[in-house]
Amino acid sequence: MIELKTESACSKTLLPLVVGGLTITCEDNMELMSRYPDNYFDLAIVDPPYGIGINVSMGRRKGDKKSKYHKFAGNDNETPTAEYFNELKRVSKNQIVWGGNYMIENLTPSPCWLMWDKGFSEDVTFAQFELAWTSFTSSAKKFDKHPSQQHRIHPTQKPTTLYKWILDKYAKQGDKILDTHLGSGSIAIACHDYKYELTACELDEEYFNKAKQRIINHVAQQSLF
Ligand SMILES: C[S@@+](CC[C@H](N)C(=O)[O-])C[C@H]1O[C@@H](n2cnc3c(N)ncnc32)[C@H](O)[C@@H]1O
Repeated sequence: MIELKTESACSKTLLPLVVGGLTITCEDNMELMSRYPDNYFDLAIVDPPYGIGINVSMGRRKGDKKSKYHKFAGNDNETPTAEYFNELKRVSKNQIVWGGNYMIENLTPSPCWLMWDKGFSEDVTFAQFELAWTSFTSSAKKFDKHPSQQHRIHPTQKPTTLYKWILDKYAKQGDKILDTHLGSGSIAIACHDYKYELTACELDEEYFNKAKQRIINHVAQQSLF
């Protein structure tokens, strides 16, 4: 029997989703992080806006018609501020930052970058691979297994298999995980399947609601087996 419940602790109008080890809220990430003491999270895996202003066209090929995704409510044209990174490093022991190559002014030199090779041909208008900065000192690694088509609800949705690969490599059972930019909720599905405790938030109400429904559907489906 699975337990799906909502709680009214959230300061916003939308109630958080609390299911298993997942706590998902609709709020600004600075607000979320302000509630936690230093080093509370073992690992932050975050995917902030890259500040390149083309999020709503991502995922399209040359010649494709208009994007089906709505414009972000959040300030998606700007990378997070120095205050955000200070707060992220305060509340978490280690960090993985997707799009770190767009935010180097707030990051330190690292030997351990991650590369997600999307496996697309050169006719796509978006990047063929993405990079993540990490606070780890091990060697750089590449994830190149592009999954079969997953149901997309977000323009910059990352595959759950990518998050599972990261958890396998950089987390250990019992770790508390933080995501300050939930988007579609792919990380929540990975954390649920691998039994990690995840705290995450999303600023955009529409994406929060879609992610919430996606997570509820996934958890309910898993409980059938
Ligand atoms: C690059 S997307 C994340 C995609 C996600 N990794 C996935 O797999 O679907 C960034 C998300 O952060 C959200 N966002 C932007 N600013 C935020 C903030 N200050 N607090 C919380 N979420 C924010 C945006 O609405 C967007 O959905």
